[in-house]
Amino acid sequence: MGEQQKHALTESDEQAIQQFLDAFDGDFHEAIAALYTHGKQVKSKPVQVKDQPVLGDVIVSTESLKKQYKVGKQQVHALNGVSISVRQGEFVALTGPSGSGKSTLLQLIGGLDKASSGSITIDGVEIGSLKDRHLAEFRNKTVGFVFQFFYLQPFLSVAKNVEVPGMFARSRPDGRHERVKELLDAVDLAERADHLPKELSGGQMQRAAIARALLNQPKILLADEPTGNLDSVNSKAIIELFEKIRQRFGTTIIMVTHDKEIAAQVDREIRLKDGEVVS
Ligand SMILES: Nc1ncnc2c1ncn2[C@@H]1O[C@H](COP(=O)(O)OP(=O)(O)OP(=O)(O)O)[C@@H](O)[C@H]1O
Ligand SMILES: [Mg+2]
Repeated sequence: MGEQQKHALTESDEQAIQQFLDAFDGDFHEAIAALYTHGKQVKSKPVQVKDQPVLGDVIVSTESLKKQYKVGKQQVHALNGVSISVRQGEFVALTGPSGSGKSTLLQLIGGLDKASSGSITIDGVEIGSLKDRHLAEFRNKTVGFVFQFFYLQPFLSVAKNVEVPGMFARSRPDGRHERVKELLDAVDLAERADHLPKELSGGQMQRAAIARALLNQPKILLADEPTGNLDSVNSKAIIELFEKIRQRFGTTIIMVTHDKEIAAQVDREIRLKDGEVVS
């Protein structure tokens, strides 16, 4: 988390952010966290995963992570002591039955929620010790999120949607416009930059959401059932895109999936059951 150059926002940026916040009623990632939903099971065809890049050092590790939710007088034990480590450039599938704690684990790793106990170290930083402002900066810079239901802002163009995290990070507008172009090209949506999300197919919407997640060049991409709302052809395209992203940018990818065939084709599968790692 190095020093970041801050830039004034243009009037149209301010308006876009305001509209976004009005629609979601809060900070970008917090708003997305609030929209988190449980996924549904889908089937999809196997995909061809290409040569593995050389893996780096451990970039994500959790130690005896526990999370309890209070529901009325009841305590729900969502995570019961999860210790995992993931290396830089690794593509990991997080699997397990519904309610086993997959989304909870992803939310904690992404700093969207706090653990009840245990620790999470991301890129050498114990994120439990970060104060709110630093945690927000961590979320903006180090992680990118992709969700089952895309969460694109309907009245912003595809390009503006992709640009939003850069506005929150106050990155240089010229650099960020370049990056939007580069990413739309990488996800094969260059021709759709000025379109509205409703003019895209589901697969295209998810590709736009992936470009948005990559805008601030995060080292880690966290994806919660990114193919859960797509047919098998589009699912396959998304997994191939993830593979391309990690080859090109060295991004570490942790992806929740219910699809056994997809899980079998990434580098490694981490299985959860009742809030514990089972393999
Ligand atoms: N905000 C919350 N408040 C209360 N309980 C919660 C909350 N979020 C999750 N839980 C509970 O924690 C447990 C783990 O939920 P989680 O959403 O992490 O499971 P999951 O593995 O992602 O399931 P799915 O495959 O259905 O998405 C479940 O029992 C769930 O009901
Ligand atoms: Mg879930």
